[in-house]
Amino acid sequence: MDSALTYASDHASRFVEELKAWLRIPSISTDPAHAPQVRQAASWLADNLRDIGIGSVEVIPTDGHPVVFAEHHVSDDAPTVLVYGHYDVQPPDPLELWDADPFEPVERDGKLIARGAADDKGQAFMHVKAAEAVLACGDSPVNLKFLVEGEEENGSVHLPGFLREHKDRLAADVVLVSDTALFAPGVPSIAYGLRGLAYVEVTLQGPKKDLHSGVYGGGVANPINALARMIADLHDDDHRVTVDGFYDDVQDLSDDERQQYAALPFDEQAWKDEAGVTETLTEKGYSALEGTSGRPTLDCNGIWGGYTGEGAKTVLPARASAKISCRLVPNQTPDDITDKLRRHFEAHVPDTMTLTFTDLHGGHGVVVDTTAPAMQAAAEALEAVFGQKPHFTREGGSIPVVADFKKILGLDTVLMGFGLDSDSIHSPNEEFGLDRFHQGIEASIRFMDAYAKQER
Ligand code: BES
Ligand code: MN
Ligand code: MN
Repeated sequence: MDSALTYASDHASRFVEELKAWLRIPSISTDPAHAPQVRQAASWLADNLRDIGIGSVEVIPTDGHPVVFAEHHVSDDAPTVLVYGHYDVQPPDPLELWDADPFEPVERDGKLIARGAADDKGQAFMHVKAAEAVLACGDSPVNLKFLVEGEEENGSVHLPGFLREHKDRLAADVVLVSDTALFAPGVPSIAYGLRGLAYVEVTLQGPKKDLHSGVYGGGVANPINALARMIADLHDDDHRVTVDGFYDDVQDLSDDERQQYAALPFDEQAWKDEAGVTETLTEKGYSALEGTSGRPTLDCNGIWGGYTGEGAKTVLPARASAKISCRLVPNQTPDDITDKLRRHFEAHVPDTMTLTFTDLHGGHGVVVDTTAPAMQAAAEALEAVFGQKPHFTREGGSIPVVADFKKILGLDTVLMGFGLDSDSIHSPNEEFGLDRFHQGIEASIRFMDAYAKQER
């Protein structure tokens, strides 16, 4: 292991140059116009995996974007680690808010700035370079499989089918993922929970066309007014979601967990400063940390309708639309919450309007077993890298496939992330600290070593 660590530090700057090349490929999965670049990012990664000496590397087509699958078998006696990551990225817009081209990575103050730097190319690539280091210094202590997909940012819709179809080839002992965050700079954590998602779009149609607001205003119901009221009514004064049955299946935080939350070194002022807010707003009875990871939410993500251009146009619009998403906790299911949202909107649509309700996508939340053997190996690895034991935390974001790893492959997942909430993932000027990139490579090497040495 020591030679692999030395190799990684000797080749650190080349690793960064390679990552930059990957980041230059705008693999935006949600935009059909970028499908060729998505494919290009997949084959770039496949080439890199071949270059480091992994024998079996394939770009496997799906009904959506392709999956990169690679396999390096060492021994039937060694445990098998399935590394998961995603090579697709979010769209970069609004472009004018970037200081530089989102797909021309720049290094500034020890950080790499580019779309995908932290989410997730930078983090997925740490494991590829860790694999390179161990392969270059003898062999890997574990059997390695890589599953790197191209539609995570699009809800991973085709991945469950892929897992079912390739169940045998994906057989492993554990899944290792770096696509979450450290608890704070220099403070390592292992995520044991992620939230799920139910994402819908609603449209209210009123008049058959946009009307003159002077001629018709006062006599005809306005869809924007009506939709705004419906959205406002989705929370009560305790900031609880008013959708019937929304909390029915929620797995409550245990007293133990709430004590663990309270014991975390959370700097609420710094957190508010980072978000640019002066106050937090939480479901009554819960802290901000609990509210952003252990409790379900409902948020309007976008709203449009009527006239939004320059100046004033006196119009009574024909329709209004909104995108609305719920973050879910175990045991809520996206299908059930989507049904409940549908019923809620149907029950509240004004008589004079019609409703269109579209289910966009969803995913299950998870809580993984913190006593799984691989968790111990990850904790050891992080402690060696950061000089302190990691915290076990739940995170508020979603990685839909993690629930499927358990359900379809029967595998636990170790979420060993190196991002920071301040990395601006999905936002302009996404960044990834190069210190964390190198710490992640080191942690991955140490994880393999610690996991291979475990009693089995
Ligand atoms: N890597 C994120 C999820 C994440 C971010 C987890 C920070 C924990 C901390 C992932 O790429 C992501 O953005 N997921 C989407 C899910 C989706 C589009 C279905 C999300 O959470 O919005
Ligand atoms: Mn991600
Ligand atoms: Mn993301």
